[in-house]
Amino acid sequence: MKLRSALLLTALVMTSLLSCKSNKSSETKVDKKWWKEAIVYQIYPRSFKDSDGDGIGDLKGIISKLDYIKSLGVNVVWLNPIYSSPNDDNGYDVSDYRNIMKDFGTMQDFDALLKGMHDRGIKLVMDVVVNHSSDEHEWFKSARASRTSPYRDYYHWWNAERGHPNYRYSLFDINHDAWKYDSVTNAYYLHYFSGKQPDLNWENPKLRKEVYDIMKFWAQKGVDGFRLDAFQFAAKDTTFPKWPEGWEKDFIKYYAMGPHLHDYLKEMNKEVFSKYDVMSVAEGAGNSFQDAHDLVDADRKELGMAYAFEAVDIAKPEGYSLVHFKEVFTKWDSAFADKGWLSIFLANHDQARLVSRYGDDSPLYREVSSKMLSTFLMTMRGTPYYYNGDELGMSNFGFDSIGQINDMPTRNEYQHLKETGGDLNAFMDRVKFGCRDNGRTPFQWDSTLFAGFSSNTPWLAANRNYTTVNAAQQEKDPNSVLNYFRKIVQLRKDNPVLVYGKYALLDKDNKGVYSFTRELNGKKLLIMLNFGKINDVAHTGLDLKDATLLISNYGDASHSGDLRPFEAVVYELKE
Ligand code: NOJ
Repeated sequence: MKLRSALLLTALVMTSLLSCKSNKSSETKVDKKWWKEAIVYQIYPRSFKDSDGDGIGDLKGIISKLDYIKSLGVNVVWLNPIYSSPNDDNGYDVSDYRNIMKDFGTMQDFDALLKGMHDRGIKLVMDVVVNHSSDEHEWFKSARASRTSPYRDYYHWWNAERGHPNYRYSLFDINHDAWKYDSVTNAYYLHYFSGKQPDLNWENPKLRKEVYDIMKFWAQKGVDGFRLDAFQFAAKDTTFPKWPEGWEKDFIKYYAMGPHLHDYLKEMNKEVFSKYDVMSVAEGAGNSFQDAHDLVDADRKELGMAYAFEAVDIAKPEGYSLVHFKEVFTKWDSAFADKGWLSIFLANHDQARLVSRYGDDSPLYREVSSKMLSTFLMTMRGTPYYYNGDELGMSNFGFDSIGQINDMPTRNEYQHLKETGGDLNAFMDRVKFGCRDNGRTPFQWDSTLFAGFSSNTPWLAANRNYTTVNAAQQEKDPNSVLNYFRKIVQLRKDNPVLVYGKYALLDKDNKGVYSFTRELNGKKLLIMLNFGKINDVAHTGLDLKDATLLISNYGDASHSGDLRPFEAVVYELKE
């Protein structure tokens, strides 16, 4: 199924924008918050650092790299799920929300990690996976055993004597069917993701209270924020009506922002967020700017910031239009210019590598284009989320066989296409470019065996380029991608204008160069980014003769609009 493949390759969920409201403001109102000033570094624990030689990253491994993380200048870490899990979906199938996955360590390790972060001034954001649990969670085990279980209503069941329920699309199921028949109680249960990820029933107040108690458990330990996985899907119309013809063109429209979602978030805010100084963000931002605003407008007391997908979905194997890319970032910025707050990101654990998708990972341009992309992410308005390994310019693996892939949905889709006579070669081409395992290969620490990630064969093979692309080598080189990342992070931290300043796009039709200004309290910065591999010119109409160069990924700059391939420059303009 075409729809299914596209979804797998561009990660999970895309949000289509149904409305576009432009708010022009002459003054930038500044409502300061620590999480707006944060630079979030996302760690995929399974792939970051293995301390015990089992080939799987773990908490002690992260602890051993805390000084490295601190040295980046980032001040918040978002950890992908570390709870007990049978790992059908690498931790996004939780079997005990108050325990640590055995592969990753113990609660003592967690406590030490949190302390180590706090000692270094780094905050920790936990991934909360509560659209679904694992089918191995005690709740589900009990719910599945009997129709009268007190946990039955923690999930969505459809008794088989009512006939087959109306079709629901599953993102991860091999047959794309979100209803799974369970003979024990002669009923179907709902799973938007895999059959081992049954959806939780948010209509049930007991379930909701359980979730808030779990969140409080972590907040009391001192965690500083929550990222709610797939939460825009949590609320459902539990009558499960038939979808109209053509639903597959935009299934998110039927899945996102179901009935009572805002009520649940308000309740969560009252019960959890309002009681602790935590940041809160949900994956996905609904179907329109209005939805996104309603999630994060401070007056509504729901979430802190929106995490929308439109921009991260732009990259395609055949390339992408920079004019479109600029339009997307600009319309989101303008929609949030006066109210609400956005996350800025181009990569995460559901995506292939940043430089391979948005830059150029060939030997000639990998470094310079990685630096250019870091410059972009660190100079936009919104909280940047930066994915581990991108600071080294880690690139796609070059998968050419399904045997190299660990990712469950990708393997399922391959199997599905095989069974239904689909085009496996075309699928593998898309996997090569976009499969999320590209972003999950082991972190490249040094040039020793297994990239210094582990003393044993890793759960997913390291990219072959680890002998040349690695942290140890880049530490020694003042001009490395890594050291450039540290500088651009520092530049953001030194310049509140880059956090709160008004954004204005210049030269919008330029097909190769992205230029914009950021302005706050009389200070004005100009950012010019060449997104292509040819010399190009920015037509900003600004005189740069007396402008102060704050950073350049080439080390110098021409004080003109002339830009070399993937050149990135930030100037402070004279008043
Ligand atoms: C979104 C997460 O980012 C992804 O990694 C996961 O597979 C799904 N939600 C299901 O939890």
